[in-house]
Amino acid sequence: MTTSSAVDFDLVELFLEELRLCKVQEGERIAVLNAGTEWTDYVQALLKAAHRLGAQAFNVNVQRDQSLQTGVQGRHPFTGHDLLLDMLKRCDMVIDLVGLLFSREQLEMQKAGVRVLRIMEPPHVLRAMFPTPELAKRVERAREILIPARHMHITSRYGTDITYELGQYPVMSEYGFTDEPGRWDNFPSGFVFTQATDGAVNGTVVLRAGDILTAFKRYLQSDVVLTVERGSVTKIEGSGMDADLLRTYMAGFDDNRAYAISHIGWGLNDAARWYHFEATRHLHQEHVMNALSFYGNVLFSLGPNVELGGDNDTACHMDIPMRGCSLTLDGVEIVRDGDVVHPELSEKGAVNPPRTSLSNWPR
Ligand SMILES: [Fe+2]
Repeated sequence: MTTSSAVDFDLVELFLEELRLCKVQEGERIAVLNAGTEWTDYVQALLKAAHRLGAQAFNVNVQRDQSLQTGVQGRHPFTGHDLLLDMLKRCDMVIDLVGLLFSREQLEMQKAGVRVLRIMEPPHVLRAMFPTPELAKRVERAREILIPARHMHITSRYGTDITYELGQYPVMSEYGFTDEPGRWDNFPSGFVFTQATDGAVNGTVVLRAGDILTAFKRYLQSDVVLTVERGSVTKIEGSGMDADLLRTYMAGFDDNRAYAISHIGWGLNDAARWYHFEATRHLHQEHVMNALSFYGNVLFSLGPNVELGGDNDTACHMDIPMRGCSLTLDGVEIVRDGDVVHPELSEKGAVNPPRTSLSNWPR
């Protein structure tokens, strides 16, 4: 997060490219939301880029409530601010530098047809994972494949064996830009997900060293075994620190809904890197989009489901990208041992070849 007020013209070019992908048109009304002095260089560069495309862009700045716990989902400075919400619902696009995900306000904007774009990564991550139309096509194809599926089975050689019955909730895709009315997306991203029918998840998840607790930007160092019954985690076992960390952190919310199984899906962005947290020198400035998006991860999660139309709005959300898993939909292989193998989605597929060679991809 930077606070410089100077306009970085490279950043303007980057956002110009992104806003073109978002199909920003002349005369469109675009609000850029930020809190306090956060992301002021992004605000200036986004306004500049939007103006270059002929849009009417303006900045909405609010104060962040410092008493709110960091990392808590769905609680933000716009909560209950109806006048502001009415105004934002009349915009064509809202660029969110605050964090509206899992909130009633964001859903209302989307229902009103507003395109919403979340940005929370520093420039080097935006550049490295910059979305392309090819990525969007691959992710959308994955969404089409996931929509009719009714049974998801996830396994691993380490003992994960869990089933999700599907059909009650919609399927969502994130490919890094928002180009249709009412679409929310995250710049950058690259994955697809849905939510199981209420109560219809059963089995065991074995988290392994190298899987990621994104809430802590931390790689697991030891095994954690989660028992899942009727859509909730009923046991967290493991002798290492990770099991303890997970158990005590989640218990701290004092909310049984934190243990509900949340969204499930897989990563498709070949420009994202699972080892990114380990390699970066800027960890404190970065969010988790590399971790959520890397190609072939199975993104397991716990907590809220309001994003997909459910009623669980617990403030405890755990996203846990897992490596080395296999995932089938109605018996059809999608991911095998951490590699996307479905012919229309994999690097060998003729439809959407990835931008970079995966030959040196770390396993
Ligand atoms: Fe999540």
